[in-house]
Amino acid sequence: MCGIVGYIGSEDTKEILLKGLEKLEYRGYDSAGIAVRNEEGVHIFKEKGRIADLRAIVDEDVKSNAGIGHTRWATHGVPSRYNAHPHQNVTNRYTIVHNGVIENDEQLKREYLLDIPLQSDTDTEVIVQLVGLFSKDGLTTEEAFRKTLTLLKGSYALALLDNEDESTIYVAKNKSPLLVGLGEDFNVVASDAMAMLQITDQFVELMDKEMVLVTKNGVTIKNPEGVTVERAPYTAELDAGDIEKGTYPHYMLKEVDEQPFVIRKIAQAYQNDQGELQVDADIVNAVNEADRLYIVACGTSYHAGLVGKQYLEQMANIPVEVHVASEFVYNMPLLSKKPLFIFISQSGETADSRAVLVKIKELGYKALTITNVPGSTLSREADFTLLLHAGPEIAVASTKAYTAQIAVLSILADAAAKSAGIDTGFDLVHELGIVANTMEVLCDGKEEFEQIARDYLSTTRNCFFIGRSVDYYVGLEGALKLKEISYIQAEGFAGGELKHGTIALIEDGTPVIALATQESVNLNIRGNVKEVAARGANTCVISMKGLEQEGDRFVLPAVHELLAPLVAVVPLQLIAYYAALHRDCDVDKPRNLAKSVTVE
Ligand code: AGP
Repeated sequence: MCGIVGYIGSEDTKEILLKGLEKLEYRGYDSAGIAVRNEEGVHIFKEKGRIADLRAIVDEDVKSNAGIGHTRWATHGVPSRYNAHPHQNVTNRYTIVHNGVIENDEQLKREYLLDIPLQSDTDTEVIVQLVGLFSKDGLTTEEAFRKTLTLLKGSYALALLDNEDESTIYVAKNKSPLLVGLGEDFNVVASDAMAMLQITDQFVELMDKEMVLVTKNGVTIKNPEGVTVERAPYTAELDAGDIEKGTYPHYMLKEVDEQPFVIRKIAQAYQNDQGELQVDADIVNAVNEADRLYIVACGTSYHAGLVGKQYLEQMANIPVEVHVASEFVYNMPLLSKKPLFIFISQSGETADSRAVLVKIKELGYKALTITNVPGSTLSREADFTLLLHAGPEIAVASTKAYTAQIAVLSILADAAAKSAGIDTGFDLVHELGIVANTMEVLCDGKEEFEQIARDYLSTTRNCFFIGRSVDYYVGLEGALKLKEISYIQAEGFAGGELKHGTIALIEDGTPVIALATQESVNLNIRGNVKEVAARGANTCVISMKGLEQEGDRFVLPAVHELLAPLVAVVPLQLIAYYAALHRDCDVDKPRNLAKSVTVE
């Protein structure tokens, strides 16, 4: 999704901005631009396509000590140079970059901007034109900016340059993430700490509706009433090295390989000095006091939530509903008397999930966020947070965050069970250790999954994933991975549901990948495999040791049955990876997608 960077200091700005934008590339974008200011005025460079395309048109000779930059993921108007940010007002005095969506842009155009010829199709241009308009009425830039902010409905993270004031970058945010970074003799603005980690690890969080004046030597935060607010910076606990690809050809492959390490790290992070798993007592109490848990998430995180439901119900005996955030927010089910909401989000910034969080907080309910990003919006705004400890996930296709989410959910279920006096019958730390070792074996044997991708997916235009019980949920995730990076139409189905319609799509050679890791439904899924095979499907069964049958394409080493999703997903991630690679797809940055979806 869109990204923002800004710098004001003594160094030449262009390279800092371009490097920052490169660090945000993983979030997905379709055009990019920078504006740099020097004594001659503001110079704007923008281009459709990649940062490399932008780099190619930036004039090396333009030197400057202040500037702003942006990667755009189109919401209003096609991806193009003229819709790319930065945008300027009609007199070119003001220059702006914007993340988010202004919902009342059309109304504002009708009310204020009928006489102004607009130069783009974006909602963003409305903001900068309004600042220009109000400053003409004699307001200072700060006053004009504040007046504009009071008129905006929707989400925004903004950075604004004033051609007539070299000393300041004006910044504001509402619902979209934005941070200010602090340095010696410079300060920066970034929608994601990663963008500026090369030059600072000191950041200040901004709250919704705040406005900030960023100068070379100071940062002044003002609340909506214009009163100055003091806020201490925090140290971003990210290692710049964590966000490098190293020797890997793709971040996705690196992140798949990191999964055994992540599982071990999680088990360690949630252990006390006696080596027992432990979750904050307030969180466990909130879980156990609830009469129903509502898990809310999107995409891969939603799929992890489905597995989490199984854990919380089977291990801790608590009823759970799992909901897609974008549906829940506009079509809320009848809630139980004492609900607890659990938001699962790798980024902690997903707008659909946040919309639900805002709504349920208004209703007075408590929320727990399970996220990879400490200090993210969903973490800050919930009552409790559990961290994934997965390290930065850069590839758009989520892999290690999914398995980390499942592992953390298993630990939460285990803690809730123990505190309620329920014996789960197994030692989770030990079982997670076996999972980590098994993941390692799978990652070491990648050739097998590359071969499966070749045998089943090299020419197909579609593919089905089937499973029962938790295997069905893993199949949904396998299908999402495959479709998002290889563009093969892939769908996951409950094995028993196929014959109610979808089986009509099975033709000679249609690939069907079936998971068989659950003893209680092994015979049933085997029956479903026979049904599709009888209609010509090219079946690929991935089973678990102890449940295997002749003809299975791959047998996973045995792990505890409840934890099978953690290992069964690894072959599916790798099959998707190789299928995308064989089709020459951009694995880490699939078309139309963004890493962090910050618009509803
Ligand atoms: C999966 O590979 C996706 N990139 C996507 O479905 C993602 O899981 C979803 O957008 C939710 O993101 P979040 O976990 O950051 O909230």
